[in-house]
Amino acid sequence: MTPVKRILSGIRPTGHIHLGNYLGAIRHWVRLASQSPLGQQDQLFCIVDQHALTTMQDAQNLADNTRTIAAAYIASGIDPSKSSIFVQSHVPGHTELAWYLGCITPLGWLNRMTQFKDKAGKNQESALFGLYAYPVLMAADILIYKATHVPVGADQKQHVELARDIAGAFNNYCQKEVLVMPEPVIETKVARIMSLRDGTKKMSKSEISDYSRIHLLDDPDTIVQKIRKAKTDAFPVPETLEDMDVRPEAKNLMTIYAALTEQNTDDLCQKFGGQSFSVFKQKLSDMLIETLLPIQTHVRSLLRDKGALDSVLQQGAAVANDLANQNLDDIRDALGMVKRG
Ligand code: AMP
Ligand code: TRP
Repeated sequence: MTPVKRILSGIRPTGHIHLGNYLGAIRHWVRLASQSPLGQQDQLFCIVDQHALTTMQDAQNLADNTRTIAAAYIASGIDPSKSSIFVQSHVPGHTELAWYLGCITPLGWLNRMTQFKDKAGKNQESALFGLYAYPVLMAADILIYKATHVPVGADQKQHVELARDIAGAFNNYCQKEVLVMPEPVIETKVARIMSLRDGTKKMSKSEISDYSRIHLLDDPDTIVQKIRKAKTDAFPVPETLEDMDVRPEAKNLMTIYAALTEQNTDDLCQKFGGQSFSVFKQKLSDMLIETLLPIQTHVRSLLRDKGALDSVLQQGAAVANDLANQNLDDIRDALGMVKRG
């Protein structure tokens, strides 16, 4: 990995924030942020509300989800005095840069994006332009800050790679190294937390059944219920990694437990192998409750004082706007735009 100079990542405020977001993204950010000596300008975590609009949102839900995600960042350990937490739409430079980048991005590159293909489904003619242009806006989110590292779950790797291609094409167009190549950072062990109903599909906010995922704010009874009902096969807990690897639902539950308890799945095969899944599931529920309960209490207390939370977001946006505006000046200049008065 090249030296970490600036980290940026984001989550869409759609639906409920879930365990996949926590393990695959936020917890990873907290680690990176706590290990790095970087300051507030160099640890940027945004709530990407403009990306949320690429799928239909209810206005009140969008506002509530935006604040809940901000609170979840803080409650999970992102310290707003050391990192900048902000809302994407509070930094207008993202959409301005997205336009410039769109002007040098070939359609062929966007046509390859698997997330668009999955979300648009069979009838691409009726899919929305925003959904198609989404990866260009994501590239702008990253490139406007010259972020060097982008911690994400595995599903976003292709988008970060596209941002690299776009940065290269832009620099080539301007004949100048204006934009910095970002690197995706993926924690492989938890890069894809799977649905509790189907171990071959990723846990996602858009899956219809609530039983497919653990929400960060699920109460203990709901967590117990969801884990009890989580799909498994008819066999006991696998005793070897080879056995675990061919049983997707078993593997997923063990991956979650291993991540929560900082163990390897190998250790779990030794410890629980051969036991019935009902015992393992009980232990998993206990661990989930132990991890999530303090976060939930903190989120709720942060949400009770919207004024204080909004002021964290304003401070974050002030830092982000300063950086974005400095970089946009160089970008406009490189493109030949006349300087503003
Ligand atoms: P999203 O909910 O799509 O905005 O995703 C926000 C972040 O969470 C991104 O870094 C995703 O890669 C990550 N993420 C979402 N779902 C999962 C999952 N099931 N497993 C691991 N990471 C995930
Ligand atoms: N596309 C990401 C997702 O769906 C969210 C996102 C938008 C993002 N802009 C970003 C992630 C910039 C990292 C960096 O999960």
